[in-house]
Amino acid sequence: MGADKFKSLDNNLVSEIPNNHNSKKSINKTLKRAYIESYGCQMNFADSEVVASILIKDGYSITKKLDEASLILVNTCSIREKAENTVRKRLEYFESIKEKNSKITVGVMGCMAERLKKKFLEEEKIVDLVVGPDAYKDIPRLLQEVENENEAVNVLLSKDETYGDISPIRLNSNGISAFVSITRGCDNMCTFCVVPFTRGRERSRDPKSILNEIEDLKYKGYKEVTLLGQNVDSYLWYGGGLKKDFKKATSIQRKTALRFHNLLSIVAEAFPKIRIRFSTSNPQDMSIKVIKIMAKYENICNYIHLPVQSGSNRILKKMNRKHTIKEYFQLIDSIREILPECGISHDMIAGFPTETIQDHQDTLKLMDYVKYDFGFMFAYSERPGTMAAKKINDNIDEKIKKKRLNEIIKKQQKHSLYRTKQYLGKIVCVLIEKVSKRSEYFWSGRTQQNTVVVFPKENYKPGDFVDVKIKSCTSATLIGKAIKISNRI
Ligand code: SAH
Ligand code: F3S
Repeated sequence: MGADKFKSLDNNLVSEIPNNHNSKKSINKTLKRAYIESYGCQMNFADSEVVASILIKDGYSITKKLDEASLILVNTCSIREKAENTVRKRLEYFESIKEKNSKITVGVMGCMAERLKKKFLEEEKIVDLVVGPDAYKDIPRLLQEVENENEAVNVLLSKDETYGDISPIRLNSNGISAFVSITRGCDNMCTFCVVPFTRGRERSRDPKSILNEIEDLKYKGYKEVTLLGQNVDSYLWYGGGLKKDFKKATSIQRKTALRFHNLLSIVAEAFPKIRIRFSTSNPQDMSIKVIKIMAKYENICNYIHLPVQSGSNRILKKMNRKHTIKEYFQLIDSIREILPECGISHDMIAGFPTETIQDHQDTLKLMDYVKYDFGFMFAYSERPGTMAAKKINDNIDEKIKKKRLNEIIKKQQKHSLYRTKQYLGKIVCVLIEKVSKRSEYFWSGRTQQNTVVVFPKENYKPGDFVDVKIKSCTSATLIGKAIKISNRI
């Protein structure tokens, strides 16, 4: 099959099944149209592409138009209460559609499906199918169950499922950058976090299938991949199986095991013309080896997303984050030393239970030390089932959480502007991704540091690496003028 077969099309049908069977599937082709909507983290968006692939094999085509769908699938997020409420609202809307066309099937996938399981069918009458993050290969059977008017729920978590054998169908892709999953699940058990419960134990994907996927992307013209995992530094391939079972591995498995820095260098060597990013790094697991590999290869982007969550040792301990502020600063110092031009971003939680004004001040102080390029900042949201929910009373008033969050956001904006101003007058290498949202006459792309750059289009095109001179900036965007095609990446 041609590699371009499933490339995103401009019209509403993202992809079609090959029209060469006499089977029941091809007769039903016009009826089998799936609309997939995704919420939450990058991993969810990557998973939806896996699901699209599974559906296409089952005779579906994927549509971007809700009103022509026979199947609506929502890939959901449980990370904060607000994320779940957004999905509930959306389901209300889907209900109004289903009232008009009762033949439509509505399925819920992802973390909410895993968290709420069967309860979803009772709580939301509109839902026909519930499928957790490790059970997507079972979707064709579940759809059959729906057709037979049986209960269609599969929320089994797996020890080895990585979907490594599935070639994802790129949805909403710009054709330039793509996500490639390398690990699934998380073993870290941060006390506030629902992910270990919804995505199960940590396991890594076979490096061969990772390389195959990137090879395929390269063939299709992609110029950038982001290696994805809840905790990429924890990548460990020893022939399959859970990370926690590595202690049972044979001596040969141990000797030949691949860790994240090994994987990074293999990928960087194999694809020198492709920009490589990764997310998320966890301070407790990130090694100096990774930073050194980043320095060694020009095509590994100088950018690290390094969530810290709080600047207080006391709170970090209560969060079960297994490092101190001192160790975090040492890591930051090493990054700055080995990779002086590295962009660094963060995640921060305001108002974790028992957080005092002093703890909050420590967070602001930490931010002053690092001066992050940007960050993702949240008010603490208690998640049912987590250790924090069980053991620590959510005792910070919502108003105080908001106030602290706003102070954190304000500080970040100041730092972001400080960072973007450093680029004024400089020449940066930009990978063009798409037309700028601000103006159709401008391209939008990113630097290695992950900073967005916009500039007049001239004769350049998406996928070009371009040297751009920076003329002005906001806290979030650099504005410049292209000079020439870059000989950098
Ligand atoms: N695996 C990543 C993050 C996963 S969740 C890591 O290593 O940090 C993404 C972000 O959501 C987290 O970094 C955290 O800042 C935020 N988050 C997670 N649970 C939360 C909760 N209960 N309330 C508020 N924010 C939360
Ligand atoms: Fe969540 Fe901590 Fe893992 S934030 S995803 S439990 S590293």
